[in-house]
Amino acid sequence: MTPKKKHPAFSTRAIHVGQEPDPLTGAVSVPIYPTSTYVQQEIGKNKGYEYARVSNPTRDRLEENLASLEGGIGAKVFASGMAAINAIATMFKAGDHVVCGHNLYGGTPRLFNQVLATFGMEFSYVDTADVKNVERAIRKNTRMVFVETPTNPLMALSDLRAIGKVCRGRKVQLVVDNTFMSPYFQRPISLGADMVVHSTTKFLNGHSDGLGGVVVCTSNEQVEKLAFLQKAAGAILSPFECWLILRGVKTLAVRMEQHDRNGRAVAGFLANHKKVRAVFYPGLLDHPQHELAKTQMTGFGSMITFETGSLSNANKMLRKVRVCSLAESLGGVETLISHPATMTHAAVGPEGRKKIGITDGMVRISVGIEDVDDIIADLDQALSAV
Ligand SMILES: Cc1ncc(COP(=O)(O)O)c(C=O)c1O
Repeated sequence: MTPKKKHPAFSTRAIHVGQEPDPLTGAVSVPIYPTSTYVQQEIGKNKGYEYARVSNPTRDRLEENLASLEGGIGAKVFASGMAAINAIATMFKAGDHVVCGHNLYGGTPRLFNQVLATFGMEFSYVDTADVKNVERAIRKNTRMVFVETPTNPLMALSDLRAIGKVCRGRKVQLVVDNTFMSPYFQRPISLGADMVVHSTTKFLNGHSDGLGGVVVCTSNEQVEKLAFLQKAAGAILSPFECWLILRGVKTLAVRMEQHDRNGRAVAGFLANHKKVRAVFYPGLLDHPQHELAKTQMTGFGSMITFETGSLSNANKMLRKVRVCSLAESLGGVETLISHPATMTHAAVGPEGRKKIGITDGMVRISVGIEDVDDIIADLDQALSAV
């Protein structure tokens, strides 16, 4: 019997879509094309490439790969996650209104409030954990709802199916920052999102060695608009960084499985530690949205936030970590530990942090794929300083 042909599974697509052997040489690794321009045969006749800000073969391959992993029809990559978010926002115009989650990565409201609002765009921030808040915030001029789920650093979820339904009814685009989960554990397009954005700097690259951002689209109109913005604004991703992500993404499935296993173990350890006052992780049974997490994510990932009680306690433990590295960022193979109030969310300001519940004692950990016993032993000895 001939086996039924089926759509290749995620890990197969991660390794093969856009990553086909080079037709010229058979190289199994996608070639890096470090060129700024391309020779043309005659006026208006070329091999599909004219100038590298507009297009590059290594970049094309990455865009094809990431579109497939998120279940979109196309994707466009940018020089960083923030450049990708900026490109999305500039698809809209002065006078357009955006409803945002109130607990986004700090750089996103910084861009929205301190840059784009000065050009006449309008932004409102609501707790998107309750879909009614989203519904109430939508106005006549609302064009986009922008959410992160789980949020950074509080690990609160938004119900993407419910928000997607509200947006569809009002012709508002739902855009989801899926950086924390990666397409391996959460695919917002299948839940109702119109576009998905990632800082590829995190899990998609996975090795803490290159910045990048991607927008995955569900319509040709979006793809064309973003291609125009790549050409017009120029915040494109270099061929080398594209290649780093193409290489990193080949192991996304196995990395995410290990991140998730280690994440669950570390969350369990922290939840039972007497120096830790609270743990924010959707995989814990007492997380208020644990049931929702099970319906829209296929794993819980490795992002965990916990409460040490004070800035001084946080600093005492952060000074002592050895296996974990005190650093901004997340999603690498190495365990990174950070202090949201003074790092990722410094730009939000003390009042803003208080409003959304980010305290000075909170520590965020991006659990890596080292031996989990070593990570736990390191956290244990560091917490003894508290
Ligand atoms: C959830 C999230 N979105 C976007 C960004 C911005 O990405 P980048 O640093 O690649 O510009 C970050 C960065 O930490 C992030 O955590």
